[in-house]
Amino acid sequence: MSSYKIIDHEYDVIVLGAGGSGLRAAVGLSEAGLKTACISKVFPTRSHTSAAQGGISASLGNMGEDDWRWHMYDTVKGADWLGDQDSIEYLCKEAPAAVIELEKYGVPFSRTEDGKIYQRPFGGMTKNYGNGIVQRTCAAADRTGHAILHTLYGQALKHSTEFFIEYFALDLLMKDGECKGLIAWNLNDGTIHRFRAHSTIIATGGYGKVYYSATSAHTCTGDGNAMVLRAGLPLQDMEFVQFHPTGIYGHGTLISEGVRGEGGYLVNSKGERFMERYAPNAKDLASRDVVSRSMSIEINEGRGVGKDKDHVLLNLSHLDKKVIAERLPGISDAARLFADVDVTKDPIPVVPTVHYNMGGIPTNYKAEVLTVNGSEKTVPGLMAIGEAACVSVHGANRLGSNSLIDLMVFGRAAAKRAAELVKPGTPHEDIGESETEKCLERFDKLRNSNGENSTAELRLAMQKTMQSKCAVFRTEKTLKEGASEIRKTYDGMRSISVKDKSLVFNTDLVETLEFDNLIRQAITTMDSAQSRKESRGAHAREDYPKRDDEKFMQHTLSWCNGKETKISYRPVHKTTLTNEVQYFPPQERVY
Ligand code: FUM
Repeated sequence: MSSYKIIDHEYDVIVLGAGGSGLRAAVGLSEAGLKTACISKVFPTRSHTSAAQGGISASLGNMGEDDWRWHMYDTVKGADWLGDQDSIEYLCKEAPAAVIELEKYGVPFSRTEDGKIYQRPFGGMTKNYGNGIVQRTCAAADRTGHAILHTLYGQALKHSTEFFIEYFALDLLMKDGECKGLIAWNLNDGTIHRFRAHSTIIATGGYGKVYYSATSAHTCTGDGNAMVLRAGLPLQDMEFVQFHPTGIYGHGTLISEGVRGEGGYLVNSKGERFMERYAPNAKDLASRDVVSRSMSIEINEGRGVGKDKDHVLLNLSHLDKKVIAERLPGISDAARLFADVDVTKDPIPVVPTVHYNMGGIPTNYKAEVLTVNGSEKTVPGLMAIGEAACVSVHGANRLGSNSLIDLMVFGRAAAKRAAELVKPGTPHEDIGESETEKCLERFDKLRNSNGENSTAELRLAMQKTMQSKCAVFRTEKTLKEGASEIRKTYDGMRSISVKDKSLVFNTDLVETLEFDNLIRQAITTMDSAQSRKESRGAHAREDYPKRDDEKFMQHTLSWCNGKETKISYRPVHKTTLTNEVQYFPPQERVY
């Protein structure tokens, strides 16, 4: 028996994570009368959703004709035919209602002259099945995620969601293949808590911090994904990591695609608008994988700018100053702060920067976690939403502004499904101590490690390996080297050192637990990338430049037990929910 005293809690449902999807689920669950706890390692309004800038997609048609079927077509095509079409249909059909609901909750959207929600163009969003640009991305200036997060936190409090803030989740409580809740550490007073629930919803976000340069917050360590791996369940499509075209050079901070939506454009060292060559129709508003690859080619072929010719420029100084002040105030501040640039006069130095994980915990469109044992099976008691999940609406490449809508639509879907499955007040059956002990053993071992490798050094080694060996372009050689380097870093954990042994706000231990979570995802990302011998969406293999639908129109599943992985595949869902639309067979993507 461990020496840690356990404090027990019982809820109908618990939500792990208080970003956009977690809060949206919590609001729905509490509204449905379920006793709901929301557990988060950071204060809810500091969650990474607050960094989402440009907007949330929905075919409202406020700024010209639009149709959810066009949105669906764009999403299927943007995903390079790896998205599940039942989920994509659900997303695009439900999107308008989800945004109107946000408006009613109080999100301060920007407005048109006649008072409707303002919508801007975004990459890959088109009208009439690829025939022209549509304005589909609903915006609150360039601080849309921030506005949504604050509004939803208020709504969750109003509906009596109970918050456990600055609680770090250690592991899921699994019994006979079912999830029974989780164990968490209260950073504030050092106590250990066991949360029992009939449904546990993972909403822990992405794992961008496996890379050195990412737009992600330091908290984006994929804690829920790692808990799923430790529970013996697979992650899906981990090789698909999105590079956002416009991270500030040298710093990584996001400059919203909204800049290009409002008329900004990229130039190389010759002053050429090079996107005209790569995407003659959509130009700077092609999908992100296409723009990031084009930028990398310009840089690799010597047309980058700066002393090292290793970035390009984003120009918006030609835009009306009023438009910049009203619709792009956040990026104007960021450019001034981090690049010393006045955007009304000078271009911003930018470079493709890790931004989003298309892969994550496999779920169906009701947010139930799937495992695969021959055929797909749901895992009782476990759901996942948001960037932590792979539902999979983004397939091999996510369209900008489809992330916030994913958070809202599937946060809402999870609450609805949980309300169908869980009767309020259902008693909890006894659970033995062995699962709790297992979680605490890992915690205790890391807490008491006295080796010579610092967590910061190991983390840096992992990030540098991912950045150089699993980049925008990959080859068998880089991935093989990466797989071996990343395992060497994993082995370094055997001799890790945690100097602070205390339990109260021990950031040394938090970072070590986060690193333990990250490195497992780095390994599954590298191995999944090595196994996929084709190019699709964000996964660009120089040695396999073509998409291979015959072999690889399949989701990658990866299990990881320490440093060993098992890889297998499951078919993409090609059938839709209603058969109102059908977008197969796949085509080449032309923008
Ligand atoms: O560019 C942006 O504003 C980011 C949006 C997104 O990732 O959806």
